[in-house]
Amino acid sequence: MNKPVYIIVAADEKNGIGIDSKMPWNLKDDMRFFKEITTKTKDPQKKNMVIMGRTTWESIPANYRPLENRINIVLTGNPDYQIEGARKSSSIHDALDQADDSIETCFIIGGGSVYHQAINAPFLTGIYLTRIKKQFNCDTFFPDIPDKFSRITPLGEVEEEDVSYEYLLYEREKV
Ligand SMILES: NC(=O)c1ccc[n+]([C@@H]2O[C@H](COP(=O)([O-])OP(=O)(O)OC[C@H]3O[C@@H](n4cnc5c(N)ncnc54)[C@H](OP(=O)(O)O)[C@@H]3O)[C@@H](O)[C@H]2O)c1
Repeated sequence: MNKPVYIIVAADEKNGIGIDSKMPWNLKDDMRFFKEITTKTKDPQKKNMVIMGRTTWESIPANYRPLENRINIVLTGNPDYQIEGARKSSSIHDALDQADDSIETCFIIGGGSVYHQAINAPFLTGIYLTRIKKQFNCDTFFPDIPDKFSRITPLGEVEEEDVSYEYLLYEREKV
């Protein structure tokens, strides 16, 4: 597996990302951004892969899953877990091993437990972070971004109702 692997996440000022197995906010432009980044490919023959924990999969409304035009992989330790429209995997490495030549980029799309496993992994190329400039009530948090991801490209700012947020791309320093 030698594909680029990115985390994509939206986090508030305190790294909050979830509450009661749901998103703490409903930000339309962030959903548009998520869809665009995780779907678009340079090569029209290829697709991207999205890898997520079982809780995050279940939090997606049934009529929106699997996430369209992307190969969906759901992590679960339960071999009997039934899933429609997505592949199942018992580890992140096993999921990444499924990224054959038809896949352009792999995205780790949450939730908290999966981000914590991936953030220090050597395979991680970078992090798309939507930084929400507000605090929400959260019970799930994103880990601190390691210092090695210090190349930051701002990709835009949004003001939506009373929330402002910024799209940032963190990439690993080249050595
Ligand atoms: N703000 C954001 O950008 C964002 C993005 C995504 C999710 N979220 C939020 O994050 C929260 C969910 O996060 P979470 O940490 O509670 O759950 P999660 O990471 O989505 O899912 C946890 C489950 O995934 C499976 N899993 C995780 N790692 C695995 C591994 N290495 N091998 C096999 N199975 C593995 C296990 O399923 P089994 O129990 O079936 O074994 C585990 O119980 C929700 O509130 C959601 O809305 C936020």
